Amino acid sequence: LTAAIVGCPFSGGQRRTGVDQGPIRLVEAGLVEQLKGLGWNVVFDGHHQFEEYNNLDDAPIGIMKNPRTVSQVNRSVAGVVMNHAKNGMLPVTLGGDHSLAMGTISGSLAVHPDACVIWIDAHADINTIETTDSGNMHGMPLSFLLGIGDKIQEFDWIKPVLKPERLVYIGLRDLDAGEKRLLREHNIKAFSMHEVDKYGIGKVVEMALDYVNPKRDLPIHLSFDVDALDPSVAPSTGTPVRGGLTFREGHYICEAIHETGLLVSLDLMEVNPSLAEAADADKTVAVGCSLVRAALGETLL
Ligand code: ARG
Ligand code: MN
Ligand code: MN
Ligand code: MN
Repeated sequence: LTAAIVGCPFSGGQRRTGVDQGPIRLVEAGLVEQLKGLGWNVVFDGHHQFEEYNNLDDAPIGIMKNPRTVSQVNRSVAGVVMNHAKNGMLPVTLGGDHSLAMGTISGSLAVHPDACVIWIDAHADINTIETTDSGNMHGMPLSFLLGIGDKIQEFDWIKPVLKPERLVYIGLRDLDAGEKRLLREHNIKAFSMHEVDKYGIGKVVEMALDYVNPKRDLPIHLSFDVDALDPSVAPSTGTPVRGGLTFREGHYICEAIHETGLLVSLDLMEVNPSLAEAADADKTVAVGCSLVRAALGETLL
């Protein structure tokens, strides 16, 4: 079994600098060796620099910021993830901001068209050009992948590969009004922190899998935004929201998805080591590595 680390030091989907350091710090912390220690072959050929897109003439479209850069970077990420998946490897994409999921999910669903997406986040990241209040594209990747909202020529390359019934959320607690409407209109299944409190994480993961993968035979793309965790557990992230997943709840999700044997692609996004104090950054990087290990088979016993 081979994991391909796709390091994406990209921050153009939001406004705070530093999230581009996330993948660099995760690798420096020893993630490659840690995965080898779990028995994986690991391919890591350096972080992707996206230099060719650094100086695009990139005026806002509507209020969307850096749209051409976000689009081109993700087009390139999609190609990288697709190639790794085609070669039978498990892409582990390290962000960078969550706009990168436009690329990772386009890439993995190109190879595994029947895959479902399990999205772990405080946020729904489903804004369209009409509903976004911030214009930050890390709050928008799912609308492009689902083909929801006005078509924007600059993003023509993104095919609406994701069906609403193949998407499920866990951990939500901070949605924009327009996003709540979109979830209702498109009948998208979500387990917010309310359901985590009510049923417990074990039951929630089981219900999420029953919904999106009832026969347990579809490949799984897991997209994990570190801000799904409570800020006390993962403080160094750009849009922290209190009342999040505990350390164990986050790890349980990863462990349970590993146990299905169906994981084909993993994202770990929004680690921003430049926010909060040094000790907090270390803690966030460490929990990021630990979530990836859990998803790739680390067990407690
Ligand atoms: N909903 C807000 C927005 O559209 C916040 C999105 C935060 N997304 C994230 N990937 N951290 O700007
Ligand atoms: Mn690579
Ligand atoms: Mn988030
Ligand atoms: Mn997110």
